[in-house]
Amino acid sequence: MARKKIASSSYIVQNVEHAKKIALIYLKNILLDKAIEFGLPEIDDRYHIWRVPLKNKGHLVGEVVIDSITSLINERKSTKKQILEDRILGRKNEKAKSNKKQDIPKISTVRNTIGFGDSEQLLQETPTESIDLIFTSPPYYNARPEYADYASYQEYLEKIRRIIKHCYRVLNEGRFFVINISPVLIRRSSRSEASKRIAVPFDFHRLFIEEGYEFIDDIIWVKPEGAGWATGRGRRFAADRNPLQYKPVPVTEYVLVYRKQTDKLIDWHIRKHPNQKDVLKSKIKDGYEVTNIWKIHPAYSKKHPAIFPVQLAEKVIQYYSFKNDVVLDPFAGIGTVGEAAVKMDRRFVLFEMNPEYINEIKSKSIKWKCKPKLINWINTTPPEKTQ
Ligand SMILES: C[S@@+](CC[C@H](N)C(=O)[O-])C[C@H]1O[C@@H](n2cnc3c(N)ncnc32)[C@H](O)[C@@H]1O
Repeated sequence: MARKKIASSSYIVQNVEHAKKIALIYLKNILLDKAIEFGLPEIDDRYHIWRVPLKNKGHLVGEVVIDSITSLINERKSTKKQILEDRILGRKNEKAKSNKKQDIPKISTVRNTIGFGDSEQLLQETPTESIDLIFTSPPYYNARPEYADYASYQEYLEKIRRIIKHCYRVLNEGRFFVINISPVLIRRSSRSEASKRIAVPFDFHRLFIEEGYEFIDDIIWVKPEGAGWATGRGRRFAADRNPLQYKPVPVTEYVLVYRKQTDKLIDWHIRKHPNQKDVLKSKIKDGYEVTNIWKIHPAYSKKHPAIFPVQLAEKVIQYYSFKNDVVLDPFAGIGTVGEAAVKMDRRFVLFEMNPEYINEIKSKSIKWKCKPKLINWINTTPPEKTQ
């Protein structure tokens, strides 16, 4: 069935060269870029797709199909790696073989993506099992009605639950969801009231377990002494020293580690990884964090009130993904996860609903070691300099 009428001038993929560049990313991901050359890409306006013919020694062996509106590869319609290999090597029984369920980890064809909007929606457009690691820190919950984005704490948790559920679908089998989170302090609004702490990490833990994730680790991020004093907690006790008044100054946050359920051992992901060179290059050097206590200085930004340090994102990405993997942050803020992913030679998918933060990601992305033109921009345009 033809898709609804959309002017071809609004396509993201506008020309043959752009279609070839996207198809090349697909071929690189399935490690066939050296074996295949392109025929002349053609646009099919009825279905809003580009077809890029794939040739080996002059013979047609398949095609890559690209959605011209979103610039995403249509994996269902593109020729599969196994079939391409069979055709290149002249192997018979290609149909029987390609139907056999493969016992190897899936390599994602998703490329660097920056999406503006509610991640609950954007995740629904993200292909199933296309993400290799999720690292994020959730939006802050504020109980004060004048500052709150949510009618109640319950409503906040339900929103987060829906996002965690969508994340489960897009995450690859047996891969990790790591979340940086801490209890929230609700300041008292008058002298006659007490301040309150909400144990957000423990409520999130319940959501993760109920949505089918397996609990793996609780890492404690320690900020060097002094970092939590700005909250004013513990000042009263310091002056009066009465029992019951005691309140420690919070200088830690949690980094909770969950895994999507699987019957595969971690060893399977390593041994069966289709690109063993990437596995070798991903090995972690001496000087890694041996215990679950990580000491890292907090980060501050004039553009965002609650960022985490890029060093924290780098550690998580290094320990829980391979080179060339796809790392998602569904609450991207000013894109710290994207910056770390590029540094560590991983791909990124960043979703953020605040236009100011999206603009900040845009201007930062110009300096990242990846071409903004080849980023898949959803509901927003590339930074002006590169257009
Ligand atoms: C704690 S901040 C993340 C900061 C980020 N780790 C960084 O270092 O820049 C959470 C972010 O989630 C965004 N956010 C909240 N709800 C969202 C939603 N439903 N979809 C996408 N982004 C959302 C907020 O605008 C905020 O920037």
